Amino acid sequence: MSTRLSIAHAQKALADLKHATDRCRECPLGARATQAVCGEGRPRPAVMVVGEQPGDKEDRDGHPFVGPAGKLFDRALEELGWRREQLYVTNAVKHFKFELRGKRRLHKTPAQREAAACHHWLEDEIDLVRPHSFLALGATAARALLGRPVAVTRERGRWQEDPTGRPVLVTLHPSALLRGDPAQREDAWKAWLEDLRIALPRKA
Ligand code: URA
Repeated sequence: MSTRLSIAHAQKALADLKHATDRCRECPLGARATQAVCGEGRPRPAVMVVGEQPGDKEDRDGHPFVGPAGKLFDRALEELGWRREQLYVTNAVKHFKFELRGKRRLHKTPAQREAAACHHWLEDEIDLVRPHSFLALGATAARALLGRPVAVTRERGRWQEDPTGRPVLVTLHPSALLRGDPAQREDAWKAWLEDLRIALPRKA
């Protein structure tokens, strides 16, 4: 199959996968969320970026990383000279987990059993997208990709291999920067950019 045909084939299969993921009720999250949010971007990318789960805005809009964390990620990409369309951006867990506080839906970290139930969707996506490497944003993504619990602050910013030999670089989730101590924000931002630069080097 030519590259163009195989990319078109992957795009069609990814659209089918989104429909199947939308119907998933293998854990309780699917029934409460508005929709499944699958990845977006280019098949066969240099890097597949994996976050935790869609947030409130992503759940409503149906696209990954379009809320505050996504805006911060876009700012970093711009600094590094990359565009989203050159990457594939997805999440380890495809449905939004939240608790209601009045009318507000507050993010809740997915339980390991929920991430585990969702894992086959991520693997299906990886099989279709076939990235060269992975950037894991935060502990849920890192665990999903490396297959073991990961201490992000200790393991960040260096290439590792997953159990099948695929290259994975772990760093903080952008929400951690948004939540972090304002006095440390500038340093945290610079350190995060340094991690991202390893996974996303400037193109010649
Ligand atoms: N946080 C994530 O991990 N993923 C999103 O898509 C949005 C926020």
